Amino acid sequence: MSKESIIRLLEKSGDKALSGQKIATHLGISRNAVWKNINSLKADGFEIESSKQGYILRNQTKEVSAAAIKSRLDFPLHIYLHQSIDSTNTYAISNISSLHMPALIIALEQTAGRGRLNKAFSSEKGDGIYMSFVLENNAISKNIHLVTAMSAVAIVRASKKVLNEDLKIKWVNDIFRGTSKVCGILTEGITNFETASISHIVIGIGINTDTKKLPEELREIASSISDTPIDINCLIAEISKEIHSLYRELSDGNISFLEDYRRHSMILGRNIAFKHFGEGNVHRGLAMSIEDDGSLTLKKENGELVNFISGEVSILVN
Ligand code: BTN
Repeated sequence: MSKESIIRLLEKSGDKALSGQKIATHLGISRNAVWKNINSLKADGFEIESSKQGYILRNQTKEVSAAAIKSRLDFPLHIYLHQSIDSTNTYAISNISSLHMPALIIALEQTAGRGRLNKAFSSEKGDGIYMSFVLENNAISKNIHLVTAMSAVAIVRASKKVLNEDLKIKWVNDIFRGTSKVCGILTEGITNFETASISHIVIGIGINTDTKKLPEELREIASSISDTPIDINCLIAEISKEIHSLYRELSDGNISFLEDYRRHSMILGRNIAFKHFGEGNVHRGLAMSIEDDGSLTLKKENGELVNFISGEVSILVN
């Protein structure tokens, strides 16, 4: 807690040096603790100038930093940062009993990243950021199927704010920049067998921030979320804030974010091929609407309207 509070104080102080004593008094900690925290922030990559007058924050760190993310949040989020793990979703599911809620698991690399339908998700170090939000399933049971759509809206809103990028959503879980995929979402539930209910929701998000190391076959269809340098801590913090507030809305039964989901849809009004997960058939037609339950209504070539809750969409060239 002290590290993010110190960043906040130094940010506020701007170019004016802030003495160790003032920081200590403000936070109710010893000067020695301030000194230790400042050193730890420097080790995390923050550029902090020290002089007789005190400390000046010259630059935020470019590394992923729990303190830098938390310093931008106004709600408690427990961040677990890993250099390399198999998958942040798998980690969340396996360690659910020891995680403090709400939690955010971040990895700089995943050795067994997973996408939808058990497909592998390329997760090289330096290519992207891989994270899972873990939330307790409050009162949203009847709207649980909207969590993926909610997360897509959170990512689109945060990207507009932090990167000024206008991203599009390909129903249901893919985020596109232009014609390339830049982010995927994998939402999973953790079941409590005693109560036969979903106790936690895991929202896995993989964002491409660089595509140099992507496998060749993916480089043609995937791209980076932005061409300009990304303040990754700021982006993660903004996505966290959006998820936090949208989840509260969803718990209150407010699904007005679906308007944003529809506005940013890249399939509505276009001819698509829809592969149904259950029956495996492919249906072609016009993507007509996204309903309040998140399902997709398609107008087939014979005029018949069909409604799908899950499947995979590809856009046909009109
Ligand atoms: C997809 O495109 O099908 C969804 C991809 C989701 C990838 C993220 S990366 C963080 C989290 N951990 C995983 O193993 N998968 C999700």
